[in-house]
Amino acid sequence: MRGSVRAALVCALSLLSSVPVTAQTPNPAMNAPDQLAWQFFIQVNTSAGGSNALFETWASDTDTFNPAPQFPTTAAPLALHPPVVPGQGRLALQRGGRLLPAVPPGPGVLEESRRNKESFDFIVQNNLFRISGLRAAFGKTLSFPVAAMEVKANWQLVTDIPAFTNGRVALADVPKLYHVNTGADGKQYAFVSMHIISKAVPNWTWATFEHKFNPGRCDIIGCKDLFGALTSVVQPNRTPNQGYPDCAKTPALQAMISAANWDPAFANYCLKGSQTDFTDASGLDIRVGNSVTENGFVDQSSCMTCHGRAAFDRSGNATSQAGFDDNGAPLGPIQANWYWNFNSQPPIFEGMSGLTQIGTSADFVWSIPFCAIDDTQNPIPPSNCSGK
Ligand code: HEC
Repeated sequence: MRGSVRAALVCALSLLSSVPVTAQTPNPAMNAPDQLAWQFFIQVNTSAGGSNALFETWASDTDTFNPAPQFPTTAAPLALHPPVVPGQGRLALQRGGRLLPAVPPGPGVLEESRRNKESFDFIVQNNLFRISGLRAAFGKTLSFPVAAMEVKANWQLVTDIPAFTNGRVALADVPKLYHVNTGADGKQYAFVSMHIISKAVPNWTWATFEHKFNPGRCDIIGCKDLFGALTSVVQPNRTPNQGYPDCAKTPALQAMISAANWDPAFANYCLKGSQTDFTDASGLDIRVGNSVTENGFVDQSSCMTCHGRAAFDRSGNATSQAGFDDNGAPLGPIQANWYWNFNSQPPIFEGMSGLTQIGTSADFVWSIPFCAIDDTQNPIPPSNCSGK
């Protein structure tokens, strides 16, 4: 470790131990969300041996949502599946005439979600991987432990990258420029996007990363990284899918990256944005969406709002179609009518008379109502999310 870095670290550590926790103690999740997002990106992508990053050793939805959940002891090859969210929302978006054109070649994108041990244990110990457990949990307050983390990653066949990037990346350069791993089908996949959430704050931290050559990276809503990018705010191009200049990195981020033990290709990714609230201080809805993962509805993507609708009813079923309704994907604050029936006009508040609970929050974790297996049937049908 270089002397100055060590001195800074010692200084930071002694500060930590000597400063009493007061109302003034800054919380990086709220005060420096982009910096924390990069710390998490480096943490989850730290090398875990072979070609695997740490997150690739975590539990997939298949490991979690089955009759005998098991946290993996050895890293399994990628078991990818087509993304479900745009699929689930497509009908609603089409009805509203709001589906955006897909980034070509849309159909080539595959997806997986994974969670760390803390998150996995919470789901399993509380029986949230099966409908019978959701029925029993109806009306309770679910809250993951602060160490819980989950990710959602998108991959494309290595051979599809030259077309996907409009020729900006040659096939021979893909393994150098992208994190690449082998799928269960034996094919080579390139990592193009990643969502990361952590329970560091009660409503989770929300951040999304994209490969610098994703053609629609800052389309429609722009890109914003107040910590790691020299150009912290990038405006969207007028025409979609034209690509963007590299997110040249700040010295502070470069220092973090040079200390990282990871596949060096991870330095080619950009933070597209993070989210800490539903609206800004002037009441405008906050939008954050990934050009790959939220392809087709980036204009109406709010991580926190849609995940704030992750809920199940008394019979253990999801209360919405992956968060969508006939207006498309919701923006802004969580709506009381997603969770309550009431016979008066708003304002609606806790403890008022006339409220009947119709939904229980899955603590923002959509896979709970979406992937839970239906153990009330015999035989138990596979999870919505099996094959992940
Ligand atoms: C319109 C709804 C919607 C929006 C917007 C949305 N998500 Fe999700 N997300 C889902 C659904 C549904 C799932 C579960 C199904 C699946 O695996 O795709 C999910 C899964 C996830 C997971 C896996 C863990 C879990 O909750 O099951 C993460 C992590 C995640 N999303 C992060 C994000 C981030 C970060 C954003 C914003 C950049 C975002 N999501 C935007 C609906 C949404």
